[in-house]
Amino acid sequence: MPVQEQINLTRARAWIEESTRVVILTGAGISAESGIPTFRDAMDGLWARYSAEELATPEAWQRDPALVSKWYEERRRKVLNCAPNAGHLAIARYQNWAKEQGREVIVLTQNVDGLHFRAAKQVNAPEDAIIEVHGSLLRWRCTRTGNETTDLPEPFERHPLPSKFGGFLRPGVVWFGEALPEDAVQRADVSTRNCDLFISIGTSGLVYPAAGWVFEAQRHGAKTLEVNRDPSQHSSEFDLSIRGMAGEVLPSLLPS
Ligand code: OAD
Repeated sequence: MPVQEQINLTRARAWIEESTRVVILTGAGISAESGIPTFRDAMDGLWARYSAEELATPEAWQRDPALVSKWYEERRRKVLNCAPNAGHLAIARYQNWAKEQGREVIVLTQNVDGLHFRAAKQVNAPEDAIIEVHGSLLRWRCTRTGNETTDLPEPFERHPLPSKFGGFLRPGVVWFGEALPEDAVQRADVSTRNCDLFISIGTSGLVYPAAGWVFEAQRHGAKTLEVNRDPSQHSSEFDLSIRGMAGEVLPSLLPS
């Protein structure tokens, strides 16, 4: 690792040692090493084959619910066949360490793959400190009643699946143009205003409101740290930005 990155890592470790209320924002980059494509990587990004507008919007669902249902079922099957990587596990172990120290580490994830929960289960970390701000591929919702279920056939017999409440089952994810779940926004607002350290991992910082939470944390006096493979939209605004792969950096950065 280049000398400058070593220096940055040492500084970041010192910040983490002295922080008691930490928010970690994660994006698709933390799941990349689990084999899940990110959104905007040119080569294998999900959008490389489709445009977001064709699939991840209420209009796309209205226009062709079968296509949207097929694409999300394909993504759901892929994530169920993937496993949490060293980055997810390092965060879960850090949450355990923090809990023993009476400190708080909240994970706000933009990812819908459920891997933070699976990592938490693997190391008995607190699951109530993981907030899926863009919903989850594993939960599907009745279009008529809003009732959610994770109990789904393998594979789907038809697209879209009828719900038992008289509607159809849509993926329980936030589409472009939709509001984030109210409770998630509430948890994010409170935690970003009260944290003393905000860590952003594996996100391009392009989609709001999540991309703005670093500024909320800064306005309330938090130190801000980024761990990202490439420069993101706001890398220069972070107090410290470490270039690297989450699965390599996090195990040496986070206490366990
Ligand atoms: P992106 O694909 O926009 O960005 C992924 C980021 O992760 C990039 O900045 C990469 O440099 C970085 N990255 C890739 N591999 C990495 C690794 N191994 N370690 C560390 N960093 C790595 O994905 P997001 O920022 O998560 O929203 O996208 C944000 C939102 O845009 C998604 O939640 C989704 C999408 O539209 C909705 O669907 C509502």
